[in-house]
Amino acid sequence: MLMTNLQGQSMSISTDILDKKFKWSSPSNIALIKYWGKKENQIPQNPSLSITLSKSYTTTSLELTSKNENWINFKFEGMKKDDFIPKIEKFISRLGSEWSFLHDYSLNIESTNTFPHSSGMASSASAMSALALCFLEIKKSYHDQDFFIKASEMSRLGSGSACRSLYKGMSLWGDDGEEGSDLYGVEFSQFNSFYEGFQDTVLIISSDKKSVSSSLGHSLLDNNIYAHSRYQHARENLGKLKSILKTDDFHSFAEVVEQEAMAIHATMMTSNPSYVLMKPHTLNVIEKVKSVRAKGLQLCFTLDAGPNVHLLYPRRAKEDVIGFIKENLLQFCEEEKYIEDEMGSGPVRLSEL
Ligand code: PMV
Repeated sequence: MLMTNLQGQSMSISTDILDKKFKWSSPSNIALIKYWGKKENQIPQNPSLSITLSKSYTTTSLELTSKNENWINFKFEGMKKDDFIPKIEKFISRLGSEWSFLHDYSLNIESTNTFPHSSGMASSASAMSALALCFLEIKKSYHDQDFFIKASEMSRLGSGSACRSLYKGMSLWGDDGEEGSDLYGVEFSQFNSFYEGFQDTVLIISSDKKSVSSSLGHSLLDNNIYAHSRYQHARENLGKLKSILKTDDFHSFAEVVEQEAMAIHATMMTSNPSYVLMKPHTLNVIEKVKSVRAKGLQLCFTLDAGPNVHLLYPRRAKEDVIGFIKENLLQFCEEEKYIEDEMGSGPVRLSEL
């Protein structure tokens, strides 16, 4: 089959894709410098930097069959889940005409997450990057030098933060005047060995569905009077953090990372309409973390767009931190739930060809 890509070049699609199963695992990530606010076409308002996680990932398989009555069949954890289908359709339409040939097939997609469904963990980064990898392998060998860059660019169109899930260690997304691009994430490797195996323990404060979705949250920034200074602040924080990451200065790391978390929540509280995604127990945890750090424990926090608290710390502090969590923080968690994760090594290919 002959296809035309976005650059107007023809490229062939193998006719035997019907016999193949594309399968990838892809991790979630946690942002240190936050992406919150976007332009048209999933272009970020400011650059962001994240840690790739290891244990929280999505495994997705894709099989193309001759077209039958359903264009997309989607199963999550073995069960049909039709409410995810519009998200996949939107994703494919954003991929553009290069991918319109997918309409000639039925797509059978199955997904599982390693983290519990109602854990309150954001899953769009792992889900969309795993799906993008499966789609891309229809057309491109994963040996190609630009495979992961292209997968990242596609993932961005599924969910912005997903484009930072394609690399080991850390990833940078957004034009920062240096190595970053607005179109895709890149691997970020300029960090001190102090951060190798960095830990992220997620305290589940609430697993309720969020009152404001990410896409609404991003769009509310368009009319937020503080938005412009927030984007500028994020750029400055990225510059600071890049320097800090070259050292083992945990105190400075904690200051920037915590400020970033509070800054995006401040934009939520100053949006119109305003909203608050933190819960009272989110604040209780934050206070305890700040006070134990003042006593010398290398522990800090960050937040996603939700109430759950990501506790960040070096591997060597693990025993002390887990002891501290059990004694002081579990009382603030929903059913004492928490997830232990750490820096990971990026997606894994599982395709059976
Ligand atoms: O990828 P989205 O559109 O769900 O946005 C996620 C934004 C945050 O998770 C709040 C921050 C980030 O940079 O990951």
